[in-house]
Amino acid sequence: MYEHVLNKAGIRSGTSVLDCGCGAGRFLRLAVDRGARVAGIDAADGLVQIAVSGVPEAEVRVGDFEALPWPDHAFDVVTGFSTFQFADDHAGALREARRVTRGQVWVVIPTRLAESGIPQVFASLTDLLPANAVPSLKLSGMYALSATGKLDEVLAVADLRTRSDATVDGTVEFPDVEAAIHAFLSAGATTPAFRPGGRRAGLASRARAVRR
Ligand SMILES: C[S@@+](CC[C@H](N)C(=O)[O-])C[C@H]1O[C@@H](n2cnc3c(N)ncnc32)[C@H](O)[C@@H]1O
Repeated sequence: MYEHVLNKAGIRSGTSVLDCGCGAGRFLRLAVDRGARVAGIDAADGLVQIAVSGVPEAEVRVGDFEALPWPDHAFDVVTGFSTFQFADDHAGALREARRVTRGQVWVVIPTRLAESGIPQVFASLTDLLPANAVPSLKLSGMYALSATGKLDEVLAVADLRTRSDATVDGTVEFPDVEAAIHAFLSAGATTPAFRPGGRRAGLASRARAVRR
């Protein structure tokens, strides 16, 4: 997925790139390794710290990609890998991405959800979450742009024209089951279980059971 965008967007020495929702900086690292000048923004301070230590060449900020702290036309390429679906205002976030680029915006969203197995993991956990978290999990950002035609609709509102569209197969690999469980239990969708009314204690065994 990252390589697809790097290749198709022509990211090379001197290309300036902003990654919205950069997380721990995996894409930033790959772009720097191709010689790009990179910046990233993410709302999660802990992930930004990892990105800063893994990609010291990047300018990485904690912040909201719905209000980007960069001037108009600052970047050749703006990307969002599984991030724009989490915006409160999808079209607004993509308009912001458009504002700060003089070139392209690349939007990556999850598709073929049923085949991925990921919804099954989260579905198995819903009764461990506080009651008021469950509706938001269902509607949650995770799959908000995944319905057929939804992304095209939002791109049109943001005044973005589609030049390239592809489905890229990806495999998420974990070193072992415990690492997979740790990752799923660290995801935003499961954090309500750690709040009052949630049942944190059952999460790991429930996630383990899905695998079997
Ligand atoms: C599924 S993760 C993807 C992370 C990264 N792009 C990757 O490929 O690994 C979604 C990321 O979007 C970030 N995020 C969600 N909404 C955001 C917002 N409004 N502003 C900044 N970051 C946001 C989250 O903190 C999280 O790191």
